[in-house]
Amino acid sequence: MSYKLQVYTGDRPGAGTDANIKILFYDDCGTKTPEFKLDTFFRNDFERGGMDEFTVKLPSELQFGCVKKIEFWRDSVGLGSSWYLDRISVIDEARTYVYEFPVFRWIRTDHHYVIEHLDTSLPQFDEQKEQRQMELEEKRELYKLKVKVPGLPIQVDQIPSDENFSTEYRWDMKKLKYKLALDTLIVRVKSGKWTDLESLKNIYVTHHLPKPEATETWREDSHFGDQRVSGVNPVMIKLCTHIPEKFGVTEEMVKPFLEGLTLNEAIQQNRLFIVDLKINEDVPCQNDSFVLCSPIALFFETSCKQLMPIAIQLFQSKLEPGNPVFLPSDPPMTWLLAKMWYNNADSAVHQALTHLGLTHLIMEGIAAITHRNLSPTHPIFKLLAPHFLYLIAINTLGLQALINEGGWVDSVQGIGIKGTFFLIAKGVKTWRMDVEGTIPEELRQRGVRTDGSSSFFSEDFKNCWTTRSSRIIRTAMMLCCCTMPSTLMLRA
Ligand SMILES: [Fe+2]
Repeated sequence: MSYKLQVYTGDRPGAGTDANIKILFYDDCGTKTPEFKLDTFFRNDFERGGMDEFTVKLPSELQFGCVKKIEFWRDSVGLGSSWYLDRISVIDEARTYVYEFPVFRWIRTDHHYVIEHLDTSLPQFDEQKEQRQMELEEKRELYKLKVKVPGLPIQVDQIPSDENFSTEYRWDMKKLKYKLALDTLIVRVKSGKWTDLESLKNIYVTHHLPKPEATETWREDSHFGDQRVSGVNPVMIKLCTHIPEKFGVTEEMVKPFLEGLTLNEAIQQNRLFIVDLKINEDVPCQNDSFVLCSPIALFFETSCKQLMPIAIQLFQSKLEPGNPVFLPSDPPMTWLLAKMWYNNADSAVHQALTHLGLTHLIMEGIAAITHRNLSPTHPIFKLLAPHFLYLIAINTLGLQALINEGGWVDSVQGIGIKGTFFLIAKGVKTWRMDVEGTIPEELRQRGVRTDGSSSFFSEDFKNCWTTRSSRIIRTAMMLCCCTMPSTLMLRA
């Protein structure tokens, strides 16, 4: 009997090895094979990112069943002896079966690693408890936690080398960067200077790109309504169950837009929705001449299932002078500007909180804590690990290159990094795993669950989940999963 082995070395700095590798196999009855040295004559095996094939022949007298686990180890021979092993596939050609041994670990010198087929088990059922403990201790050294900015979610102190982008990924990013730079240059030359909003459309004409629908519809109220549910920040809108005291909107003001209903009737029929960006209050701006609104906006679901804005108040207190309620019946430019100020406020919440704070940063802490507490053998780790790929690397790069003092965010966004961090700290304070981190509960709290209070959001939410807001939804789904390791049973 013989097995064909495919050994996949990882693609990361220092992953390849010149050390001697040995392996043996156990079957489901505990029968053990002799050890085999994995070496191909005149070939430099186990190079970074490479796959090496070997054939091992079992002694003819050995009664050996199905491969249940493998044991392998390395010595410290050679200049570069460290080894990051992705996986080993054991191909039983006689039985036409492939046994997969996902490893995804740095292999220490002289430690005998025992990995079961598919390497998935809860700690209480793991036969390799010591190995599991040893690996967790190593991970706790690598993933040290730190609050880098007061009030922001916990992060890793130093990025572990395993979290860095792979060479292939770095190369792809470089290629993309140069391609984009070249494309931008061509666009500049071909489309001319942007003198007004209309001239932006030249980009699509000169590049034969499909013109986005929004270039024609961005002024329309229906587009503004759509942005609340299928834009980048669809997590702010709630079912309106009453008009807040601080909101100066009256029955008289919105009467023309309610298709003959009173405000109360619209509320009773679950057709009134509200966004209150109170969180923007007191957020510092990049400089004193900038203003960030903290608007309240009211939306009505028409009989054609279209969400339409019917009133916008740009600041919180209705008693303040110069804080009127803007209406669709106002002069077109006035109403358009009210919607633009609203969107500016919404974009601050989206970029700082929904995107950076509650997606990137909160997930970094969860990734680090997962590494510190769950072995790579744990089934929950296996489910989460693909979602953590390059997360810490992107955050580290982002915080160094974009969200630093005088960097991109500081110079392009009205609230700069001071306001960005302020908003995140404010939002994180009230964020809860069992509410905002759990999709069904989050939807229920906002009154927009698909199975009850409002029929309007069913299709729209489905669409925005699967397309434009996939990152937010994916994050939230991961957070749902992450509630599980909190029980002691699943720990480690
Ligand atoms: Fe992002």
